[in-house]
Amino acid sequence: MEVVICPERSKATALTARLMADRIAADPGIVLGLATGRTMEEVYARVVEAGVDFSACTTFNLDEYVGLPPDDPRSYAAYMRKHLFDHVTIDPAHTHLPDGMSDDLKAAALIYERTIADAGGIDLQLLGIGVSGHIGFNEPLSALRSRTRDKILTPTTREQNAGMFGGDATAVPKRALTMGVGTILDSRELVLLACGTAKAQVVARAVEGPLTSRISASAIQLHRSCKVILDEEAAAALQDRDYYDFVCRNEEKWDPYRRYL
Ligand code: F6R
Repeated sequence: MEVVICPERSKATALTARLMADRIAADPGIVLGLATGRTMEEVYARVVEAGVDFSACTTFNLDEYVGLPPDDPRSYAAYMRKHLFDHVTIDPAHTHLPDGMSDDLKAAALIYERTIADAGGIDLQLLGIGVSGHIGFNEPLSALRSRTRDKILTPTTREQNAGMFGGDATAVPKRALTMGVGTILDSRELVLLACGTAKAQVVARAVEGPLTSRISASAIQLHRSCKVILDEEAAAALQDRDYYDFVCRNEEKWDPYRRYL
């Protein structure tokens, strides 16, 4: 794992967008794993602004609420259209989200896993992190080898996501269909982005704490190629921060990205 700490939120989101753009430029037919949430909004805005060409890309989103149709503005399908898909050249047939409207969620989950496999697996998976420690919607005690399935959301997550539901946590769907921790770990590269004070404690637990299903995000410690991009606020509770900065300063591969650091 590499931890990259940027002086401010705008640089952390710009660095994430730039990494994504660079991966697409290097491999236009890349398979991307995408996340939603407030943190990613700025990333997608920058990718759109940069005119990145997604025409040969295939995308798989991490999750979708159960019971919200794709045309519901609060669905993640709608989020993706609003923040990315409507503003870039991408073939809608190559964009995928779990089918939270299926009346057989187990079958929908299996189909999602199979579709990812048929696409050759995910090359680059973007991740945010929830205050509950989730990646995707893998709430505490999600098996570290879990695959796509439906999960009940924690009250903390429903509170965190209430913004899109008029501030009413009880209006947030109780369930989501989400890639599993194992599905996420199968991706060839992970980039986790977290910003803001509210994420500081959970980031420290995910990055430096013990590997535990209580904090699903701690599973990133198992991945061979994982970058954690943080702003100063989200990095505030890390204990070995001096070392992460030292690595970053001395790794030549970060040279093209110095203006974000
Ligand atoms: C959303 C997702 C979640 C979010 C996380 C952070 O697709 O998978 O794990 O990334 O809840 O959300 P924000 O950025 O709103 O704090």
